[in-house]
Formats: sequence, C-alpha cells, structure tokens
Amino acid sequence: MSIIKALDILNQNGVVAFPTETVYGLGAKIDSDEALKKIFSTKERPFFDPLIVHVDTIDKAKACFKHWNPVAECMAKNFWPGPLTIVMEKSELISDVITSGLSSVGVRIPDHPVALELLQKIKIPLAAPSANKFGKTSPTSAAHVKKEFLETVYVLESDIPCQIGIESTVLLVRNNLDISILRPGLIVKSEIEKILIQNKVSYQWKETVDKKESPGHLKHHYMPEIPFVICRNPHMKVKDVGQIVDQRLSALPDEVEGVKILKPGKPVSKIEFLKLAETPQQAAREIYSQLRTASERKPDLLCLALLKDYSAGPDAEMWDSVLDRLFKAASLVID
Ligand code: TXA
Ligand code: MG
Repeated sequence: MSIIKALDILNQNGVVAFPTETVYGLGAKIDSDEALKKIFSTKERPFFDPLIVHVDTIDKAKACFKHWNPVAECMAKNFWPGPLTIVMEKSELISDVITSGLSSVGVRIPDHPVALELLQKIKIPLAAPSANKFGKTSPTSAAHVKKEFLETVYVLESDIPCQIGIESTVLLVRNNLDISILRPGLIVKSEIEKILIQNKVSYQWKETVDKKESPGHLKHHYMPEIPFVICRNPHMKVKDVGQIVDQRLSALPDEVEGVKILKPGKPVSKIEFLKLAETPQQAAREIYSQLRTASERKPDLLCLALLKDYSAGPDAEMWDSVLDRLFKAASLVID
C-alpha cells in the first residue's frame, strides 16, 4: 500500500523519503526538473550542492554516464548494491539541476530492499540527497525524517534499519582513470585498492581534488539542534569544558558557507556527553541517532570526549570516516 502511494507521489512530480542502507534519502524522478527543484526547496539546500542518483541495476547506472570504464566496472561489480557512489562524466539523461551545472554525476545502487523495490517499480532513476534540512544531521529512521520536515514529506517506512548509518563513500573516477575519494565512508581506500589490484585494473590515486570537482564539500555539516563540541583531551574536567566553551564559542562566526554555527545562548551548565561505540561500524550506525536523541533532552551543550587514539590499528580508516562526520557536526574542537 505505502509503496503504491510513494509511486503515485513520485509520478506526480513530488518527493518521497525512502530508506537506504546508509541514511534516508529524499527522492525525486530524474526526468522531472519540477520534482528535482522540490528536493532543494524542501531541504533548503543551495543549488551549488549536487545530488546523488540512485538506480537498481548496473545497466541503468551506465546510462547515467557518458563513458564506462574498467575501474567503474570493477567497483560496481564488487561494491553494488552498497555504500559507494561513483562520480564520472554525465550522459544527456542527467539534468543540470541534479549536478549543479557540473559535467559529472554521482550514481549508486543502494543495498536496501525497500529502496530497491521502489527503484524497480518506478523504473526511472531517483535523485536523492539525505532527507534532512541543509547542513543538519542525517536521518537514519522514518521518525527522524518526519520530525525534520514536520510530517510534510511522505516517508516510506521499513522495519529494516539503516545498517551502515553514515553516507556512502564518494569516489571520483576521471577519464584517465585517476581516482580520488571525495567523501569518506565505510568502504575505505585500502578496500578499494585491494579490489582493484586483485582484479588487475589499472588506476592511479590522485590526492589533490580541485574545488570545482567537489563543490558540496563543506567545513560544517550534519549539525545537531544543540551546539556540539569535541574534546580531544580525555582528562579535561567537565567544568573546564563549560568554561572553555563559554569563552571560545562566542568568538566563532555565526555562519560558515551557509551553515549556521550553533552556540549556547547562556553560560553552559547542563552538558550531555556522547559515547562512541566500540567498533567503527557500530559507531557509524548510531552517531546520527545519538546526536538527535541527546539534543532532545535540551542540554546547553553536547560533548564528545575522544578517549583513545582512533588513528592507529586496523580500523583507523573506518574511524576516520566516522570522525569526519563528527568533526563537521561540531561547532568547536577543544584540544
Ligand atoms: O549514502 C548516501 O550517499 C546518501 C543516500 C541517501 O544515498 N545520499 C547522500 O546525498 O548523502 P547528499 O546529497 O547528502 O550528498 C551528496 C554529496 C554532495 O554533497 C557532493 O559532496 C557529492 O555527494 N557529489 C554528488 N554529486 C557529485 C558530483 N557530480 N561531483 C562531485 N561530488 C558530488
Ligand atoms: Mg547530506
């Protein structure tokens, strides 16, 4: 029943939120500029930030791109359906509204049965950014989306949770097979490398990314409703955290690249401390939900103290992806 309603709304140039294995997406058919523009207006998202296109088959992905190549073939065969977005030159199927005027497009096959059923039935690929207001915490449940848009957006629900919990890895594949990670995720560089080498595919990492190649890359993002700080010093006393925040937050700008920097309105007294799970996979699954739940208790401040060195050991790359989201969500980092 609900999928029929979702199809109906999409076919009438509307937007629908749907679950993926990473986060909930806010989808529109790629052949309707009217619907695509509704994604931007609903999210209050600036037009410079391009959207990811979702498909259910590799053939449909190929149709979104101007060229296909052995790197894309290898990535698609090994990681799709899954949390990897491939960015390459776009075909004429892809509207400039999706790509913010860029000549490239990001495409992925999500690994969630409800998303796949929706994509199979609608037949047209769906452009879908995360279903949250611009710059805010991404949603990992239907309830998060409903709260975010105050029930104005139809949400396709599912009992199957967002297993990954943070957004897909975004991999730029250039025509000369130079590749770069534009956004880290749980599919990490060493894993990509391993698969390409195993399959004897030629490629070259390019570490420097032109600003034009990745316009949506902002310093702040994923911001919760309550000001959030990260403390790198695990021995710092609670009262010192409050004091430092009182001193330093007021000196921060009100806005960076269009994203509002939250600050406490009064001296900090009530602090909610977040705790990271033991493994990066579990931490990724929980962090957005933790930021939302802790904010609902209406403290003056959310604080995460980094209790260990996450940059060492076999899980370092995955931790790096989790911390990427947390550092962007934070108004301030205290050393
Ligand atoms: O896991 C995900 O990727 C989720 C789910 C819903 O699939 N989607 C998602 O979309 O995170 P969004 O719009 O919140 O993030 C898309 C980001 C953009 O901000 C940009 O950084 C990058 O992907 N991106 C998309 N298309 C691009 C392009 N053509 N060139 C460079 N970067 C691009
Ligand atoms: Mg997003």
